[in-house]
Amino acid sequence: MLQKTALFDSLQGKLTGDHVSRSRRSLGDLSNVFLNEEERLRMNPDQHVYEVEMHDSCGEVEGGLFFGVSHVHPGKVGDEYFMTKGHFHQKRNRAEYYWGISGEGLLLLMDEARVCRVEKVFPGSLHFIAGHIAHRLVNTGSSSLVVGACWPSDAGHDYESIQKDGFSIRVMEKNGEPVFVKQ
Ligand code: PA5
Ligand code: NI
Repeated sequence: MLQKTALFDSLQGKLTGDHVSRSRRSLGDLSNVFLNEEERLRMNPDQHVYEVEMHDSCGEVEGGLFFGVSHVHPGKVGDEYFMTKGHFHQKRNRAEYYWGISGEGLLLLMDEARVCRVEKVFPGSLHFIAGHIAHRLVNTGSSSLVVGACWPSDAGHDYESIQKDGFSIRVMEKNGEPVFVKQ
């Protein structure tokens, strides 16, 4: 029997159709994420920072998979580039794949000892995020950074540890270039 399907536009990174949902984070949702909280509070709280489209056809079950696309818009809070909140997986040993679709940016990867490494994200780049590694996308370019993702549907998101201690590095713009600032 022919079933309805979702559509993935691999050039634009647009997901549509069955079982697709969307969520959005605006500046007003991102308290204590950026270094310059005063500047964030001065900015428009409705300004969109990123959207996530997600294909969920199985629910949060062991053995299931979710497929998503993140769109991180260009912009900065003070000198700090727009980025995702970042998270560990609630089930720490769950891994994930990311891949660059369009735009340019960085993937921050941090282990539980707070040791960070950084991978460049660009169209065609592929990123394996092992379990126990927190991950955050940073848009260092002038267009949206669009990144695909696939992860175990029972992984869950632990935002709290990142909310509390942040990542051990931040990516700021200095003289038009991204620089790493240790926290
Ligand atoms: O599953 C993922 O890691 C991504 O889909 C992220 O959830 C997405 O990039 C948004 O980031 P965050 O969940 O940290 O807000
Ligand atoms: Ni994840």
